[in-house]
Amino acid sequence: MDVLTAIKERRSIRSYLPKEVEPEKLKKVLEAARLAPSARNLQNWKFIAVQDKNTINLLVDACNGQSFVGEAPVFIAACALEDGGLMGCGIPRHVVDVSIAMTHIILEAYEQGLGTCWLGSFNREKVKNILGIPDKAVVVAVTPLGYPAGSVSARPRKAFEEVVSYEKF
Ligand SMILES: Cc1cc2nc3c(=O)[nH]c(=O)nc-3n(C[C@H](O)[C@H](O)[C@H](O)COP(=O)(O)O)c2cc1C
Repeated sequence: MDVLTAIKERRSIRSYLPKEVEPEKLKKVLEAARLAPSARNLQNWKFIAVQDKNTINLLVDACNGQSFVGEAPVFIAACALEDGGLMGCGIPRHVVDVSIAMTHIILEAYEQGLGTCWLGSFNREKVKNILGIPDKAVVVAVTPLGYPAGSVSARPRKAFEEVVSYEKF
């Protein structure tokens, strides 16, 4: 599958089959995160893949009750090991780095026939407590991972002309 096809076809999945994710598929998804680029190549990150059902059930509450989190057989928390400070442009590098890695995760998951749903609605302290994440680490994004329970139509995007300009704003 070429990259643009994966980008076009991927959907946020909010319903999962009770079917295990094969270890080799999970490994590929996590490998895609490991290979992501990062500012200064610092790789200031850790990706935690959770498969224990009891732990995943606890994470539903930590994800503000988003119940579909409890349907998926895997949960991935993408963390920065520490607040990496600001880049020269004033943007926090750890947030950018981990977000790129999470993008790799969701695209490789799609390539493997798996669904994800990037979650920004979660309680960082609860996720940290449940997963034993050190105080100084930052949970940037989380996602369930599993086989989609059905197909999902494409959600709308703004028109190309509205979001792209050439030469000037
Ligand atoms: C940074 C970010 C945070 C998001 N947080 C949530 C969330 O907490 N819960 C949820 O159900 N979807 C969440 N989403 C998914 C978006 O709602 C979804 O990407 C958007 O509606 C477009 O749909 P699509 O991913 O199927 O193209 C999030 C997506 C992003 C990129």
